[in-house]
Amino acid sequence: MIGRLNHVAIAVPDLDAAAAMYRDVLGAEVSAPVPQPEHGVTVVFVTLPNTKIELLAPLGEASPITGFLTRHAEGGIHHVCYEVDDIRVARHRLEAAGARVLGDGEPKIGAHGKPVLFLHPKDFCGTLIELEQA
Ligand code: CO
Repeated sequence: MIGRLNHVAIAVPDLDAAAAMYRDVLGAEVSAPVPQPEHGVTVVFVTLPNTKIELLAPLGEASPITGFLTRHAEGGIHHVCYEVDDIRVARHRLEAAGARVLGDGEPKIGAHGKPVLFLHPKDFCGTLIELEQA
């Protein structure tokens, strides 16, 4: 059911420092910061030949990654995003298998303008999974 790895998201406490490290030390193609107030994050997109890395920093008071950064002060892998052909078909299959979809279960428009869902990390080897309709 899952297809391509769309991105790996890394939460970071200092977005400028993280972007500079990916650009200058790792030699990657790095975007300018993109504020996404509706998601409570500012994102830097790192484009790799076969996938993307998203560097996430908190934006605003109620950012969903603030708690994560409290537990991981230097940053860390926050979630992985897999593509699916049909997000509603995917949700039905996952719910039938007993997996928990976060929030109200309705797909939301994600960082790339496409419908996304998040799956409970306790159901998937301790990893927060984002599904994005391809
Ligand atoms: Co993501």
